[in-house]
Amino acid sequence: MADAVRVNPYNPAENSKPVDELLKIQNITKKFGSLVANEDVTFSIHHGSIVSLIGPNGAGKTTLFNSISGYYPPTSGKVYFEGKDITGKPAYEICKLGITRTFQVVKTLKEMTVEENIMTGAFLHTGSRRQAQKDAAAILEMTGLSDKKGIKGGSLTIIDKKRVEIARALATKPKLLMLDECMAGLNQTEIKDVMNLCLRLRDEGITLLIVEHIMEAIMPISDWIVVLNAGKKIAEGLPQDIVDNEEVIKAYLGDRYNAESKKS
Ligand SMILES: Nc1ncnc2c1ncn2[C@@H]1O[C@H](COP(=O)(O)OP(=O)(O)O)[C@@H](O)[C@H]1O
Ligand SMILES: [Mg+2]
Repeated sequence: MADAVRVNPYNPAENSKPVDELLKIQNITKKFGSLVANEDVTFSIHHGSIVSLIGPNGAGKTTLFNSISGYYPPTSGKVYFEGKDITGKPAYEICKLGITRTFQVVKTLKEMTVEENIMTGAFLHTGSRRQAQKDAAAILEMTGLSDKKGIKGGSLTIIDKKRVEIARALATKPKLLMLDECMAGLNQTEIKDVMNLCLRLRDEGITLLIVEHIMEAIMPISDWIVVLNAGKKIAEGLPQDIVDNEEVIKAYLGDRYNAESKKS
């Protein structure tokens, strides 16, 4: 299996290659009036890795996604993608460069079929309906939606809406895929499905930034974890170090991820 030979790009003990940064967030601050939603946040995402962003509700995780993806500009600080400054660029330009995000509240197009939903992503790169359909077919297969391609978005179950959301994002051919709480509301089997999909995407060369509360899901698949609390980065590190970090336990983990679950 690919996993047996894979090295975590974040673990210096395993990796002698130079750092290969895909995204760098430097001193990002975002204010809404007097509320500081992100304060001086800095971290990097290595090419080919899975990085998870965790922290309590209101910590500023979605706000950071919004600043990276061009939903709005940060108040100050810089976002570099493949070495280029993309700070404040419009969302469609950032998407075209290779960063795509999903939304915490799913935004399935209700009147369109699953296939058409996915094709809307493919139209970022092609004007041809035939090509978009071809791209969609491969993604339908990968996300387990092939037999539902004719169903309208509005009639789907929550897991399938989430699958469509990820599938549409994939159709834009992202280098960096950002998933905002895409496992929330799913059962154990469905969570396992999404975990496996994340690993598969990573193996295919897509870098992932994941916001998630389900520790049992993100600890095993993440190469690196960044922790936000009240807008500030309070820690970053390998998953095994984060679960033992006193400040992280106090601010967020508590007994959410205890010694027992660490063993399993
Ligand atoms: N558009 C906005 N206008 C005003 N305040 C906002 C806006 N978006 C987020 N906030 C505030 O910023 C803080 C961080 O929110 P958010 O990034 O959604 O947190 P998280 O995703 O970690 O739960 C919260 O206090 C939230 O109320
Ligand atoms: Mg959020």
